[in-house]
Amino acid sequence: MSPLFDPARAPELLDDPARDRWQQPARIVRTLRLKKGDVVADVGAGSGYLMQHLSGAVGPGGMVVAEEIQEAFLPELQRRATRLGNVQVVLGTAENPRFPRRDIDYFVLLTVYHEVRQPVPFLRALHRYAKPGARLAVIDFDAGRKGGPPAPVGHEVAERAVIAEAREAGWEVAERHDFLPSQFFLVFRRGRTGAGPGAP
Ligand SMILES: C[S@@+](CC[C@H](N)C(=O)[O-])C[C@H]1O[C@@H](n2cnc3c(N)ncnc32)[C@H](O)[C@@H]1O
Repeated sequence: MSPLFDPARAPELLDDPARDRWQQPARIVRTLRLKKGDVVADVGAGSGYLMQHLSGAVGPGGMVVAEEIQEAFLPELQRRATRLGNVQVVLGTAENPRFPRRDIDYFVLLTVYHEVRQPVPFLRALHRYAKPGARLAVIDFDAGRKGGPPAPVGHEVAERAVIAEAREAGWEVAERHDFLPSQFFLVFRRGRTGAGPGAP
């Protein structure tokens, strides 16, 4: 677990135009196979790097819920959301994302997981906002990968640990995608045991 990302560094890091080359946001969103009308949660949205891609994928009849736990990101998220029209910005907490709806089709955590303080309760909390059949994508720096930019020190997480924690929280791996040079990309579906013990 790393400290929370410093919002003041968003322009140089999160919104660095060179990021697109290794992050491939358009390909990530294509890989999610979102449908027009879907509700997708950008969990830990930061400054809204993925927002435009998600917004286009779900279309005007769909909705992106851009959630952050650091209030300093909200003005920029809101500025981008206003331009797009199908994005709702939400302030959550480290324990509870406080989504305003309970029909979310897809939860996306892009480079967020390594900062989540208590992953198992956090992933369990997502179930209460999920539509039946909802999916969860986790993309983050993997210590073992070569080829892309290295993760900032301490900002990586072991893919195996993510799979184990997600399983404990009631999510089973459905897909693994391997095209990102520095990051793993996992898609989970609700497991057979549901949210498991302690689920809300
Ligand atoms: C490295 S930034 C990535 C932001 C954005 N997803 C992107 O890829 O540009 C990680 C973000 O996760 C947020 N975060 C950390 N823990 C979180 C949690 N439990 N729930 C929601 N967001 C969280 C931080 O506030 C930070 O903005």
